[in-house]
Amino acid sequence: MKKNLKKVLALLMCTTVVLTTAMGCGGSSDDGAASDAGDTATEEAGEADDAGDAAADAAETAGVDIKDAKVGISIYQFSDNFMTLYRTELVRYMVDELGFTEGNITVQDGKNDQAEQTNQINNFITSGVDVMILNLVQSSSAPQVTDMCNDAGIPVVYINRQPDETESDRWVSEGIKATYIGADARQSGTYQGEEILETENKGDINGDGKVSYIMVQGDPENIDAQYRTEYSIKALEDAGMETEELLLQRGDWDQVKGQQITQDALTQFGEQIEVVFCNNDAMALGALQAIQAAGRTIGEDIYLVGVDALTDAVQNIVDGKFTGTVFNDYFGQAQGAADLAVKFLNGEEVEPINMVDYIKVTTENANEILEKIK
Ligand code: GAL
Repeated sequence: MKKNLKKVLALLMCTTVVLTTAMGCGGSSDDGAASDAGDTATEEAGEADDAGDAAADAAETAGVDIKDAKVGISIYQFSDNFMTLYRTELVRYMVDELGFTEGNITVQDGKNDQAEQTNQINNFITSGVDVMILNLVQSSSAPQVTDMCNDAGIPVVYINRQPDETESDRWVSEGIKATYIGADARQSGTYQGEEILETENKGDINGDGKVSYIMVQGDPENIDAQYRTEYSIKALEDAGMETEELLLQRGDWDQVKGQQITQDALTQFGEQIEVVFCNNDAMALGALQAIQAAGRTIGEDIYLVGVDALTDAVQNIVDGKFTGTVFNDYFGQAQGAADLAVKFLNGEEVEPINMVDYIKVTTENANEILEKIK
């Protein structure tokens, strides 16, 4: 993977950092264009690496020495599987491809504690970092954090957890050097719903005219959790399916909680459960353990979908033990975040909201995706 990034990016047909406004991207799920996202990405594939080169070149031209730039990064929680892939790629790309000095990049664990993370940000300010890349513990703390950084004259790239629109609007109206890069979770939710619709009985295994499901939710403060929960079901209902929610419970993106919630739900609702929706793959992997322990069979008497495309999840799709997942493109997001940081260092203008496409992963493309992420 790391050896030949250009090839991988082109093959994945997805990694272009689609720098769009929130408006431009937000419509994708509502108007059904979500399914076309892969096509758009195909056309633009191969440009991502060029964008990285261009950002680094531009910084050099302007005389900003990337080698000396100090960067403060805080991740909401190191133990999060997806954010571990993300931060590894972020640092790799900054050092290997953009020319940052590893010793100038500080990566902190927010330990899922906003007070702790706010301290880290204060320390970054005191130590005089040139730019920050922040995965907030609570996106609602963005206004306070933005003001702290802005007062200190330090630009911020927010990643993964999107601040409210009123906040990003303020960056524009007040000329604040802050930006967000992520993926539109409505698209991932829609893809999950579509994966169920693509099964032979559209999720209605027992033929009673409705899809009975449990929803294992991420951290509900997080817009990703809210949108995936809403749009997965919306996709089913928009296609004319009746749905029945047996249970909705927060699993905080965590595999152990996903396992426990599903185990309890299987005990309580038994065969009534036709679909287990999980807002991410870690929880879906936990759900799979519970489903197998209860003697249920994916694809026969129950369906299971997640989001992220963790290697284990994609392997399970290949093996017929997962109905589907959605690739949460951490390559595109991490590289886009680093490119935005370089733009700030270079004094360039950036868009307030920058979105990267998701990709649906089913048995049809699971092997191909697996090859790319392994
Ligand atoms: C989501 C991802 C989850 C978790 C979360 C953290 O985008 O799907 O697995 O990492 O971000 O905010």
